[in-house]
Amino acid sequence: MKKDLSVLREEVSRLRSEIARHDDLYYRRAEPEISDQQYDALVRRLREIESGHPELVTRDSPTLRVGSDSDERFPSVAHSRRMISLQNSYDPDDVAAFVDSIAKDLGGREVLFTVEPKIDGVAVAARYRRGELELGLTRGDGEKGDDITRNLARFRQIPTTLPDGWRDAFDGDAPELFEIRGEAYLDHARFRSLNVEREARGAAPFANPRNATAGTLKNLDPQVVSDRGLSVFFYRLFAIESEGPGRTHRDELDLLRSLGLPVNPFLRTATGPDGIQRHLDELAGLRDGLGYQIDGAVITVDDFSLQRRVGETAKAPRWGLAFKYAAEEARTVLRAITLQVGRTGVITPVAELEPVALAGSTVSRATLHNWDELERKDIRAGDTVVVAKGGDIIPKVLRVDLDLRPDGAAPEPRPGRCPVCGAPTERREGEVAYRCTDRIGCPAQTAGRLRHFVGRDAADVEGLGSRQIEVLLQAGLISGPADLFRLTAPSLAVLPGWGEVSATKLVAAIAAAPRRPWANKIFALGIPGVGIKTAVVIARRFTDIEQLRTADPGALEELPDVGPLVAAAIGDFFADPDSARLVDELREAGFLLDVETLPPETVVSADSWFAGKAFVLTGTLESYSRAVAKEMIEKRGGRVTGSVSGKTDCVIAGADPGSKRKRAVKLGVPVLDEAGFLERLREDEDDG
Ligand code: IVH
Repeated sequence: MKKDLSVLREEVSRLRSEIARHDDLYYRRAEPEISDQQYDALVRRLREIESGHPELVTRDSPTLRVGSDSDERFPSVAHSRRMISLQNSYDPDDVAAFVDSIAKDLGGREVLFTVEPKIDGVAVAARYRRGELELGLTRGDGEKGDDITRNLARFRQIPTTLPDGWRDAFDGDAPELFEIRGEAYLDHARFRSLNVEREARGAAPFANPRNATAGTLKNLDPQVVSDRGLSVFFYRLFAIESEGPGRTHRDELDLLRSLGLPVNPFLRTATGPDGIQRHLDELAGLRDGLGYQIDGAVITVDDFSLQRRVGETAKAPRWGLAFKYAAEEARTVLRAITLQVGRTGVITPVAELEPVALAGSTVSRATLHNWDELERKDIRAGDTVVVAKGGDIIPKVLRVDLDLRPDGAAPEPRPGRCPVCGAPTERREGEVAYRCTDRIGCPAQTAGRLRHFVGRDAADVEGLGSRQIEVLLQAGLISGPADLFRLTAPSLAVLPGWGEVSATKLVAAIAAAPRRPWANKIFALGIPGVGIKTAVVIARRFTDIEQLRTADPGALEELPDVGPLVAAAIGDFFADPDSARLVDELREAGFLLDVETLPPETVVSADSWFAGKAFVLTGTLESYSRAVAKEMIEKRGGRVTGSVSGKTDCVIAGADPGSKRKRAVKLGVPVLDEAGFLERLREDEDDG
């Protein structure tokens, strides 16, 4: 009996850390690895154990809270009303159970339900005061959202000022302050062209339209929002500080429509499970022709007074249900299991699949996560497996068809040695992963660290992808991040696949790395447990490498987002001789400055477009003298230098610019005219 509980406890802790990892991937990185259905199954299993063993419930259990998409780059603002999700279901039987339970709650009377598409995008809220857009928020943690007003204002379909006569839509009872809520999304056509364009310039394509939407809403440059052409469907409208206005869900949709706001055309009503099911089937039939992604249907009680009577639980309203389509599945043969070694030495088994069409793309690989998962599902090379992805996400092996297992198919042994360098592996306490123990000698870890260092949230060195890193390692030109700063154009230009232009560009890109914001530099170090979000928090409190290196563990732990584990990991990192050497080398290379020269608030507030960039002013500006313009840029965290080089981020050219402008064009440095400069300044002011 006692043993059972300890087994369950272990499962609970594994589920919680899995869920936390997927929350992070979904909400913060917008790079989910599993489908919603698989995620929901994890939460359901956790809830099931917890309900049988209340002693295992902790205050921070994911079953007691909603996930959060909060992002420290945007101010956080309290919601006027909690912004929570509906309960999900994949089982048509649940629909009948939901309808019955509501009818029972309401004394057996006939209840009218609405059925509408559940748009697979990102929830947004917009507040209007006297007809003017005042605030735009993401869902955040449901209590507070991120202020994305400037980005919402760039939606073609979201007016910053409602059309004249908007009050008439409310029949003479227009609220001074009201809020609308809806789902932002990217339609299929725009999603495809966005990815084509990204791949053409070497940027990673978005995994699916929802990720692209999430990434766009959190972009710091509102112009990007305009360019990408996001759309939205609204489904809520309510007054703040006053009652009303509608009495039913249909009323509020009508109101939204009469305000000229986009509302999905599909809306059906029914009173019983059969009628609802018919509408669900009809919608499923329309799904492929809609031109945008839906992941199910939303079923709600139409009448608000009845909604209030059935009420809400801590996690979700009881008057609604999100019926979700099961992820598409496909069968294929798992040809082999290969092993990948990451920068921290974690060894991940990967399924090499017979290519198969799935949800609009061809799948040939799937992650198998770890050996616990492999053994739980009993996946072996040669097996016929069922793979799935929820809305274009990285595929996953769901299960094996044991009837088709070939003779002699053997389980993949747990790795005793690193598949790349042969060093022994270890399994740390509380971790499921196996790791390669040769941190310095293992080429896979070295390459992984380099990829991390040059990544977008780190040193952000353009033109240095996995392939180029391999070439540099092979040629013996580098063995760690600090070596990058010693590379010269001539030594690169002779490498296979390189030329003078790419070599010069890369050297310039590396030379620009020391101007990265301090938070990104901290992230670039690759301290275990320190993601970009934590790095930003750390950067605010410890403003240069010396302060951070000598930070007191207690002071680190006090920071939001930094628990004792991460504080200890930071301490261990700086105490480790190899890391200490890396820090010294990066200092010598000028990447880490003894005193970070940019003031901390401008360094970390990536808010201003100017922050961290190098400018050259040329020509005559009408609005400001050169000196004032310089001061304005510096106040925003930018630098102004005298001559144009590969290190210049932008040239601001007034009238009669002359040679500097020409040189910028020649070097491919962006040039902003005075109007563009003023626009960027104004955007900062709009920021408040
Ligand atoms: S009604 C209390 N209607 O799906 C929440 N939601 O769990 C009431 N969604 O994150 C939401 N299309 O953003 C509603 N037609 C629709 C929707 C919709 C998409 C999203 C919503 C929320 C989740 C519902």
